[in-house]
Amino acid sequence: MHLLLVILFFLEAQFCVQSSDSNSPAGENLATNGLPFPWSKVRLPSYIVPVHYHLLIHPNLTTLRFNGSVKIEIDVKNNTNWVVLHSKNLKIFTATVLDEHEAHLSDKVLSVLEYPSHEQIAIFSPKILTSGEKYFLYLEFGAPLSDGFYGFYKSTYKTKAGETRVLASTHFEPTSARMALPCFDEPIFKANYTVRIRRGPSHIALSNMPLEQTVEIGNGLFEDQFEVSVRMSSYLLAFIVCDFRSVSGMTATGINITIYAVPEKWHQTHYALEAALRLLEFYEQYFNILYPLPKLDLIAIPDFQAGAMENWGLTTYRETSLLYDPDISSASDKLWVTMVIGHELAHQWFGNLVTMEWWNDIWLNEGFARYMEFVSLEAVYPELKVEDHFLDTCFGAIGRDSLNSSRPISSLAENPAQIEEMFDTVSYDKGACILHMLRNFLTNEGFQSGIIRYLHRFKYSNARNEDLWDSLIKHIDLKKMMYTWTLQKGIPLITVKRQGRKLYIGQELSPIYVRFIHFTVHNTSLSNPDVLTLDEEVDWVKLNSDMNGYYIVHYDEEGWNALTELLRINHTALSFKDRASLIHNAFQLVTAGRLSLNRALDLIGYLKSETHNVPLLQGLGYLQSFYKMIEKRNIADITHNLKTYILQYFRDVIDKQSWSDDGMVSDRRLREEVLSLACDFDYPPCLEKAKHLYNSWVESNGAISLPTDVSETVYMVGAQDDSGWAYLLEKYGVSMCETEKSKFLSALISITYFIHLLLQLGMDGTLIKTQNLPSLIYLVAKNPVGHFLAWDFVKKHWDELVEKFPLGSFGIRNIIVGTVTQFSSTEELREVENFFKSITEQVSELRVIQVATENVEKNIMWLSRNLETMRTWLQQRLN
Ligand SMILES: *[C@@H]1O[C@H](CO)[C@@H](O)[C@H](O)[C@H]1NC(C)=O
Ligand SMILES: *[C@@H]1O[C@H](CO)[C@@H](O)[C@H](O)[C@H]1NC(C)=O
Ligand SMILES: *[C@@H]1O[C@H](CO)[C@@H](O)[C@H](O)[C@H]1NC(C)=O
Ligand SMILES: *[C@@H]1O[C@H](CO)[C@@H](O)[C@H](O)[C@H]1NC(C)=O
Ligand SMILES: *[C@@H]1O[C@H](CO)[C@@H](O)[C@H](O)[C@H]1NC(C)=O
Ligand SMILES: *[C@@H]1O[C@H](CO)[C@@H](O)[C@H](O)[C@H]1NC(C)=O
Ligand SMILES: *[C@@H]1O[C@H](CO)[C@@H](O)[C@H](O)[C@H]1NC(C)=O
Ligand SMILES: *[C@@H]1O[C@H](CO)[C@@H](O)[C@H](O)[C@H]1NC(C)=O
Ligand SMILES: [Zn+2]
Repeated sequence: MHLLLVILFFLEAQFCVQSSDSNSPAGENLATNGLPFPWSKVRLPSYIVPVHYHLLIHPNLTTLRFNGSVKIEIDVKNNTNWVVLHSKNLKIFTATVLDEHEAHLSDKVLSVLEYPSHEQIAIFSPKILTSGEKYFLYLEFGAPLSDGFYGFYKSTYKTKAGETRVLASTHFEPTSARMALPCFDEPIFKANYTVRIRRGPSHIALSNMPLEQTVEIGNGLFEDQFEVSVRMSSYLLAFIVCDFRSVSGMTATGINITIYAVPEKWHQTHYALEAALRLLEFYEQYFNILYPLPKLDLIAIPDFQAGAMENWGLTTYRETSLLYDPDISSASDKLWVTMVIGHELAHQWFGNLVTMEWWNDIWLNEGFARYMEFVSLEAVYPELKVEDHFLDTCFGAIGRDSLNSSRPISSLAENPAQIEEMFDTVSYDKGACILHMLRNFLTNEGFQSGIIRYLHRFKYSNARNEDLWDSLIKHIDLKKMMYTWTLQKGIPLITVKRQGRKLYIGQELSPIYVRFIHFTVHNTSLSNPDVLTLDEEVDWVKLNSDMNGYYIVHYDEEGWNALTELLRINHTALSFKDRASLIHNAFQLVTAGRLSLNRALDLIGYLKSETHNVPLLQGLGYLQSFYKMIEKRNIADITHNLKTYILQYFRDVIDKQSWSDDGMVSDRRLREEVLSLACDFDYPPCLEKAKHLYNSWVESNGAISLPTDVSETVYMVGAQDDSGWAYLLEKYGVSMCETEKSKFLSALISITYFIHLLLQLGMDGTLIKTQNLPSLIYLVAKNPVGHFLAWDFVKKHWDELVEKFPLGSFGIRNIIVGTVTQFSSTEELREVENFFKSITEQVSELRVIQVATENVEKNIMWLSRNLETMRTWLQQRLN
């Protein structure tokens, strides 16, 4: 699955709940009808194993209901007279058990016990099911199409003519297959699936496998029968009934790739086809295993909560993650689409072919898929410069991991809300950074051949953390080394002291295996240090070359001085990654109270002559995030001085930017960020230019295309007066491009006066889709006067929000973190804590509450430590 996380630049953390035991002791569990339920655990018993599902599904897009039947071939490993499996919100009409010859074991319809708090049902068999025999369960069931984003759910879209059309699509990961069919809904239970879908004549049906045949069954209905699938976990099953249009192509190895979208967005599908063809061919070579299905579909679903989902052979996407309009989408939009496709395609091997045994190791799926985004794009699309973004991934991970409330990569997760919460920065981003470090250690070739070994060994089956380490390399105890990274939380801190030619290396926080420390001494690579004697006296030492290691480095006084001086005199002596990582480490140490803010601000003094976008945006990003926090605290003098300083100091960079789409991707990204900042800070030349572009755009009634990278900034400025705002809202309603709409929305939200109206529209879900509500709330909260409004809205509508975005889901996490982390005073902290206390029953198991409140504590601490320093430093610089 691809996360769609709100990017929070400032201080973040992740909290770890110890496994809360949700198993009640045996015997106490009563089913809904009052009879004792035969199984007391959240996890299913392991002695009944599904082998093959034969599924028939019949959705009705008019009545918005579906019904279906499933015949599950099972292996019985221990004698028993009941079967427990998952089912959630389904009405079970009949249940029977058949023997090997498909003869009923009883003429009576069997009773089904339901145990909703574990999302399980139990079926009693009239005869003992004997170990070693083959049986079939047969169930008929039905339910309304789900209203949210999980299970078999309803999605809608509007045509240009204003007609609303309905489709039905699935999203099962991690625990929602049980909402669409009764099943053994745990990743270890891999089985083959044979799917049939009934539909009307104006729709098509899609599933994981290619269509085998279509049968007309009377009453104007058709039944599409799909080929039998390979063995896979239930969360990867998918089916869709819709009226989309498509475009197809063939890979060199004969895989048919098809991109689907709503008919009027068909012209936005072509880039995705090209990217999917090239990336699939890359992975087949890289993994040295052919993609095992005959086809791969990529489909843009109008209502989608995550970024995308890797269902085997039928990957699903948010429209913004798949559709690309060359006239409207920006360079960043293109990079995003390419990365998401790279992610989902990597999952076809990592996740689909080899699956983690249980959700505690979800990082094996997500850390790998996140890392392969970078490996594949670097190879296939070097011009997109994806490596510029890799450090951000690790910086994001460190932000969370640096607080007490982080968690180890492999952590316990039992119930659905805990499992949902595993899909977080730790699994994705820290996972990817650890793998990057490992790849540097093993060499590219060693890493790749180890992965190939691992995939071959565990294909169509499941693996654990240690299975990966055991596969990667023979003669080194990699397990022991890697456990220090995957089984403990936290970011290691390495300290360096230099005395003459001797370097003393120390470790704090999470001790790590020291072989991973590499560093640059005047361009000489060394490793395995502790106390180290250099061959000659040197001027400076920089550890963690290119930040290939997942740790932070703290130098002694002289060390920081030497590096600050080096950057000032000749910053190109260090790579751009080294420069960005120095800036990052310094500000991280300020937050931790280990380095004074002065030192960090002096370090970035050299940025005036920086030309690379990564260190430049890194330094600017810190200043901007301090500004946002101080602005919300209404500290007028510092707010004013900091703004003046930033505008003066970065003036050359700002003035250099053109209002166009020229240049390389990295130039374009810099332009997008820098001009957005300049206009946000009311820099007159920026406002003038944007206003001018906005007016010509309005005069042409939207016919001229604005430069895509700056269009959001142009809308933002245009929205500042009432008629401009109203025009954008009208355009929002009719736009056929989701990336454009999200730019309109950012602009609309910048006007405080209309925030209430927009939040209401987001809640209502008609003009602004419910899927966009979490980011809408976050955008409001970022606004200098919006954070109270956003928080009040969240409190007032909490119950409705949780209904739309279940506890543990990305949606609710983004809402909580996005609003709460804007706060930075003790009164606000108390207010937040009181609210969560008032709903403790609901949220006591959520990590994200601790994440959010610990962030506020960090903000408070940061201000109390650094505000005066900042004030004085600015006064000195501006005089
Ligand atoms: C669904 O219900 C309708 C009406 O009760 C019935 O005709 C149809 O056969 C059912 N379909 C399935 C798949 O059970
Ligand atoms: C199933 O059978 C195995 C081997 O006979 C036994 O070890 C195990 O305890 C049994 N499990 C249950 C739940 O009865
Ligand atoms: C859906 O239900 C309506 C009304 O009952 C019926 O006319 C239509 O044929 C059904 N469509 C499908 C695909 O079952
Ligand atoms: C089930 O899937 C496996 C591969 O995972 C395949 O070899 C086997 O043929 C499939 N079973 C059926 C009945 O098609
Ligand atoms: C690929 O699949 C699409 C969708 O099923 C189909 O329309 C197209 O004909 C197929 N292409 C080839 C070359 O088989
Ligand atoms: C860190 O968290 C644990 C529980 O998660 C707590 O017991 C401990 O006091 C915390 N340490 C600090 C320094 O806050
Ligand atoms: C550093 O060393 C590498 C390889 O040893 C060499 O290619 C590179 O030019 C050197 N860089 C500098 C700045 O000396
Ligand atoms: C700056 O450093 C680079 C790389 O070490 C070197 O090639 C260059 O000559 C240096 N320039 C100055 C002015 O010292
Ligand atoms: Zn994923």
